[in-house]
Amino acid sequence: MKTTSPSSPITEPPQAGRVPDSDQFRTPLFDAMVDLAESRKVSFHTPGHKSGKGISTRFRKYVGPKIFTIDLTTLDEVDSLQKPTGVIKEAQELAARAYGADRSFFLVNGTSGGNQAMILAACRPGDEVLVARNAHKSVITGLILCGARPVFFAPAFDEEWKVSLNVTAEKVRAAMAAHPGARTLILTSPNYYGISADLERIIPEAQARGLAVLVDEAHGPHLRFHSSLPLDALEAGADCCVQSTHKIIGGMTQASMLHLKGERVDRERLIRVLKSLQTTSPSYILMASLDLARMQMATEGEKLLTKTMQLAEEARARIAQVQGLDCFGRGAFREREIGDLDVTKLTIGVWRLGLSGYEVSQILNHRFHIQAEMADPFHVLVIVSIGDRKDDLQRLVEALRVIAREQPAGGPSDLARLSFPFLRTETMLTPQEAFFAPAAEVPLARAVGRVSAEIVTVYPPGIPLLIPGEVVSEEILTRLQQVLSLEAMIDGLNEENTHLRVVRESVVGPVRKQTLGEIQK
Ligand SMILES: Cc1ncc(COP(=O)(O)O)c(C=O)c1O
Repeated sequence: MKTTSPSSPITEPPQAGRVPDSDQFRTPLFDAMVDLAESRKVSFHTPGHKSGKGISTRFRKYVGPKIFTIDLTTLDEVDSLQKPTGVIKEAQELAARAYGADRSFFLVNGTSGGNQAMILAACRPGDEVLVARNAHKSVITGLILCGARPVFFAPAFDEEWKVSLNVTAEKVRAAMAAHPGARTLILTSPNYYGISADLERIIPEAQARGLAVLVDEAHGPHLRFHSSLPLDALEAGADCCVQSTHKIIGGMTQASMLHLKGERVDRERLIRVLKSLQTTSPSYILMASLDLARMQMATEGEKLLTKTMQLAEEARARIAQVQGLDCFGRGAFREREIGDLDVTKLTIGVWRLGLSGYEVSQILNHRFHIQAEMADPFHVLVIVSIGDRKDDLQRLVEALRVIAREQPAGGPSDLARLSFPFLRTETMLTPQEAFFAPAAEVPLARAVGRVSAEIVTVYPPGIPLLIPGEVVSEEILTRLQQVLSLEAMIDGLNEENTHLRVVRESVVGPVRKQTLGEIQK
């Protein structure tokens, strides 16, 4: 953990090593794109809109003409993502320096593509892999592509805050002890709610046992740039991590980065995998946004994040005072030694109002024109970022006050009785075996006891309730019905949310009845 106390002010001087080196002001890829656009060369290459001349007029009128002049393709002047030797190479090297990586790679298919690449680079078919069950579905699709055998262990559900915490060092230790053959550990930290695992303890222990540690750090591209944020994965010693630059800082949607450190993950294989998974026509606009977002964070991240954290903390304090609402803060995590919290995430507990997070999210949107990042049965989650202003947060707090006033807390609420811990179930097949097995759709009520062929998630956050190979238990069916009745968005059932694809019994019957692994405690 970084060494600030829970109550320490957010404004702190940059730490040694965090002072930007002057190179970090450079944006080689973006500069080369602008130079090329301004040179007005005649283009007989893709994209077919030819610097916007062929783009639809409505599109050009709305966004203006300039953006199309930098919608480029792989050309000498702007380098190749598949085989970078020029400005993309330089931009990636600057990113690696800013993030403390040996190598950084630009991703144009989000963190989803990065998670898949990191798994394919580190694991082989049949390998036993320890996976924290709060993984995004892209971790599961990575396992499907790879054919590895996951052993899941789950974080605890906090009954007081009604939120899923992150995995503990003890859980990871138990998983490692029960599966000494595993060579890879996959964590998600921070989770969607900004709750990070105790990476400082977990990573060295896992590596000492010979495991490579891969971290889905989709929600942490900013952590490195402020000493009052939780420790980032690379600083804690992770071998590989993936970050959604687009989710939290200045990348454009889909733009993410993968960072590699050390020798535990094979660099050459990673490069081969990225070449296989990434498009041969990457968007230069997305890649430029990565170049610029890195420059922005490395040169003024501390200042921008200080302001962001102050805005978030002020809003948190005011929300926590509203009768019927909750908004946990960082201090409680430190006191209870349950990881750490990125304070730029506001997890607003609304269940005491007798309203679900989904309902409050709808009210905020339709009545107050405020769009939250995510809702769950108990909360609305708000991301506060370097793009937010004081007015935006004031509007949010005011709207929440009105909602709470009109819906006074204290009445009987079914939600208060609900609890959504991760559900354990038997695993009969690997995700890959189940994904490719002959399957059929059955009504949900008849799915109990069958093996899922699908990834079923509530979206967002996209954490699977069921993954291919897992047995549908009564409990899982009940949970599905509960979240459906709360009108959550479910992905992985049929269009009407009435049927699930399950592996045919003829396959599962003769297949070895083997629990692939579930760490219970
Ligand atoms: C923890 C986590 N990992 C990965 C992803 C996928 O990231 P992306 O949308 O950049 O593909 C998400 C998206 O919500 C996520 O929350």
